[in-house]
Amino acid sequence: MDVDELVRPALRQAVATLPEPVRQVADYHLGLSGGSAVAAGKALRSALVLAGCRAVGGDVRRAVPGAVAVELVHEFSLLHDDVIDEDRVRRHRPAAWVRFGTGQAVLAGDAMWALALRTLSQTHDAAALEVLIRTLTDLMRGQSQDVAFANRGDITVEEYRSMAEGKTGALLGGACAIGALLGGSSADRAEELGRFGRHLGIAFQCADDVLGIWGRAERTGKPVGSDIAARKKTFPVLAALAHPGEAGRSLAEMYHRPQPPSPQECVLMTDLVERAGGRIEAEAEAETQIGAALACLDRAEPGPAARAELAMIASWAVRRDR
Ligand code: IPE
Ligand code: MG
Ligand code: MG
Repeated sequence: MDVDELVRPALRQAVATLPEPVRQVADYHLGLSGGSAVAAGKALRSALVLAGCRAVGGDVRRAVPGAVAVELVHEFSLLHDDVIDEDRVRRHRPAAWVRFGTGQAVLAGDAMWALALRTLSQTHDAAALEVLIRTLTDLMRGQSQDVAFANRGDITVEEYRSMAEGKTGALLGGACAIGALLGGSSADRAEELGRFGRHLGIAFQCADDVLGIWGRAERTGKPVGSDIAARKKTFPVLAALAHPGEAGRSLAEMYHRPQPPSPQECVLMTDLVERAGGRIEAEAEAETQIGAALACLDRAEPGPAARAELAMIASWAVRRDR
């Protein structure tokens, strides 16, 4: 509710200050003109900023610039991510680069990044700004590892965790820590909340990987099976490839073929991932990471209402039909 009342109008206002034509691209990507995206209730990162603030007894109104900044970073990273991944569909619509061209999409993303920094710097909270900058660097590191994985056949689950912590966990952790700092938190408490978010991010990514293979298109907003068709090395696939047995070996053979798989082969590969235990292991990893996240949360000693809120967000993040 706070996200709707406090963050969305502030986000709209911030984006309105962007110069044309990048504003138009940002508006389209965010769905601000059509009323989807952040409006669709997926404002997980904003919710974490506000909850992080509440966890330390802060006034959430002070955290709003943090939520806007984090949401802008998230959206800019998705904008660039679709260019990098050559994904043509985002949230059931053509990706921004398909609609406006790669140049405009990249530039709109750059402008959103600058806007994020400007928004947060207006709070004059040097510690929060420092966290955002560290978050950005970690996010790029994770994305870069993810890109590098495409050309490698020997990725370990440990490397995956590091990639997912960067690509997804950094921003969820940054959201919690920035919210806490804007709420007047000590550095230690903010760091503990940041660790909560990082573990949550790995769990979220594992759940997202499961959705990417077995989720329905209505939920994911992307074509079903695209991760398998692109032979992405997601957690369920890595776990299945590491599994001794016939299914894992057949999957490995199909992952290493030079030619891309046919639609029938994609169905078979999906089945092999399942049979080699990939799905179960990914779900177990998500649960383990949630456990670690909650332990960090308790060390941050949030008030009971904020603890319940953050724990609820955590369980939502790994729910299969989210
Ligand atoms: C996107 O990663 C994560 C970031 C933009 C940092 P993915 O490429 O795995 O996610 P989707 O499936 O395109 O959203
Ligand atoms: Mg992508
Ligand atoms: Mg990607």
